[in-house]
Amino acid sequence: MSENLEHFKNLAALEAVKLVKSGMTVGLGTGSTAKYAILEIGRLIADRKLMDIKGVPTSVASEKLALEVGIPLMELSAAGVDIAIDGADEIDPNLELIKGMGGALVREKLVEFNAKKFVVVADHTKLVPYLGYKSAVPVEIMRWGYRATINQLASVAHQLEARLWMKDGEPVVTDNGNYLVSCTVREILNPRELDAKLRHVPGVVGTGLFVGYANIAFVAGENGVERFSR
Ligand code: A5P
Repeated sequence: MSENLEHFKNLAALEAVKLVKSGMTVGLGTGSTAKYAILEIGRLIADRKLMDIKGVPTSVASEKLALEVGIPLMELSAAGVDIAIDGADEIDPNLELIKGMGGALVREKLVEFNAKKFVVVADHTKLVPYLGYKSAVPVEIMRWGYRATINQLASVAHQLEARLWMKDGEPVVTDNGNYLVSCTVREILNPRELDAKLRHVPGVVGTGLFVGYANIAFVAGENGVERFSR
């Protein structure tokens, strides 16, 4: 099953990379699906099928992988990027997303908000009837005052559970030096409203609710790759 999922992730990523053309600036996502897009872009550059590409990585991990496969990199400029390709934790029927379970949500948001086209790549398990179906919403917060911030986050919505994200007994620290909180909400009826309420809490740096961001999603499963767009 997990082998199949890897195959589906790869299929979706390959489809998205077909949209990348020579001369483009490309937002390089983070996670186990975006990884396949980075590998494919590197391969096409090595084969001289893609020229003059500049990648903008959304995490230290993606930066490292992109350098390993020979993708020239740049910082996010005022012009943004031509295209960004990234995975998602949940995709609802309106192409609204939960992202960030890989902890890179703030840089992802910056790059993808500033992308002319944001393409989501995923295996079929990421399709959900509504956000919050399986995944919590990751929220990046400043370390300073984090206990108060978490307490405030928990009061944002009915039955919202906010937990500091821990690994090996220590809080997870993002590439930006911040903490992560996972906010579990049973059913997110209005993602835009929840996002605004979470961002209203002082100390919040960004949320994993990507509302109005995705233009296209390639989702792969047993029947091949499906394309969804707004
Ligand atoms: C990284 O911070 C995330 O936004 C990922 O894009 C998301 O968690 C999907 O990751 P996978 O492709 O590994 O499932």
